[in-house]
Amino acid sequence: MAYSLFETAELGPLISKNRTVRSATNEHLSDPSGQITPAWVDSLEALARGGVGIIITGHLSVDRDQRADEGQAVLDQETDPTLLSLAAQRVHQHGALLIAQISHSGGKARPGVNGRPPLSPGDLTPQLLDRLVEQFRHAARTAQMAGFDGVQVHCAHNYLLSSFLNLRWNHREDAYGGSLENRFRLIRRVLLAVRDACGPRFALLVKVDNDSCDDLPALLRLFQSAGVDGIELSGLDMARRDGQKTPFFLDRLLAAWEGLTVPIFPVGGVFSRAAAEKVLAAGAPFVSLSRALICQPDFVERMEKGQTESPCLACNHCYNVYRQRPVRCVLHTEVIPQLEAVFGPYPT
Ligand SMILES: Cc1cc2nc3c(=O)[nH]c(=O)nc-3n(C[C@H](O)[C@H](O)[C@H](O)COP(=O)(O)O)c2cc1C
Repeated sequence: MAYSLFETAELGPLISKNRTVRSATNEHLSDPSGQITPAWVDSLEALARGGVGIIITGHLSVDRDQRADEGQAVLDQETDPTLLSLAAQRVHQHGALLIAQISHSGGKARPGVNGRPPLSPGDLTPQLLDRLVEQFRHAARTAQMAGFDGVQVHCAHNYLLSSFLNLRWNHREDAYGGSLENRFRLIRRVLLAVRDACGPRFALLVKVDNDSCDDLPALLRLFQSAGVDGIELSGLDMARRDGQKTPFFLDRLLAAWEGLTVPIFPVGGVFSRAAAEKVLAAGAPFVSLSRALICQPDFVERMEKGQTESPCLACNHCYNVYRQRPVRCVLHTEVIPQLEAVFGPYPT
C-alpha cells in the first residue's frame, strides 16, 4: 500500500505526525562566536508551527575551530543548554520532532572564520581521530540531554565524514583509507559512539551522498550494519541543480536499495505535492525538503490545505542572499533582524 503524506509514520524509535522532513538547512543564526540564539530557536519553531513532522537543524559544528561559515552554530560544552532545551520544547509544543544535524566541516571549514586551516582526511592523527569521535559523541549526548529526539550525523556534501568516503579526498594508507570498509571506519566509530552514549530510544540518522563512492549499494549496507535508524540520500552535486524542480536522487535510490530494510529517503527537488507523492509512491517512507521551506516555512501546512506548488524558483540564490543580505529568499524581503545586524539593511 502506498504511503500517504499526512499519516503518522515510524522512523526508528520515533513516531512522526506525518511523512515530511525539513532537511538540514544552515539557519545562519548563530552569534559570531557560534553560540545558538533566540532567533535560531524561533526559526525552528516556525517550521514546527508550519506543519513539518521531523525538523533537522542546520549543521551544527562539533568543533568550534572548524566552522563552515560565520553563521554556523556549534554544539559543544559551551552551547547554551537553556536555548537548546527551549528549541526542543517549542518544537514539541507543535507536535513535531527535533533532530540535531551534527557535522565536522573538514576541508570546507573557513580559515577566515576560524583563524586556522581546515582539517582534511590526511591531517587527522590517531589522537585527532579519537578526539573527533568524542566530539560527535558529546554533541549527540548534549542534544539528548536538552530533549532533542535524535541526531543526524552529516556524512554528505564533502564535509569531513563525506570526504573520508571519497577516494578523491581520502589518500590515507592506514586502516582509514583504501577499501570502502576502511574509508567507512571513522564513520562507524562515530555512529557506534553516539549509539553507545544515547541508547536505542534516541534516533540515529545519517545524511549520505549517492556519489561519494562508486558502490552505493555497498555503502548503504555499511550504514545499515552500523545500526542507523534512517538514511537521507543526497548528492555531491545537489547545489549545482539550480532550477530543477523534480526529485534529484530518487532513481539512484531505487537502483540501490534492494534487500535493505533500513528506512531510506531522498532529498532534493521536491517543490510540489505531486512530487512529494511521487517519492512516497516509489516506496520512500519520508519526503525531505529544504528550499521550499526557506521560501515558505509553512509549506507543509499549505500543502495540506490545498496549495499544490511552492513558489520557490529553485534558483539557489538563498545560498547567496542569506550570507550577504538580511533576507532568506530572493522572493521575499522580510528582513531578519539578527541578519540585519550582521549584513546591514536590505537594499531598497
Ligand atoms: C541555504 C541552504 C543551506 C543548507 N544547509 C545545509 C546544512 O546545514 N546541512 C545539510 O546537510 N544540507 C544543507 N543544505 C542542503 C539541503 O538540505 C538539501 O539537501 C538541498 O537543498 C536539496 O533539497 P531541496 O531541493 O529541497 O532544497 C542547505 C541548502 C540550502 C539551500
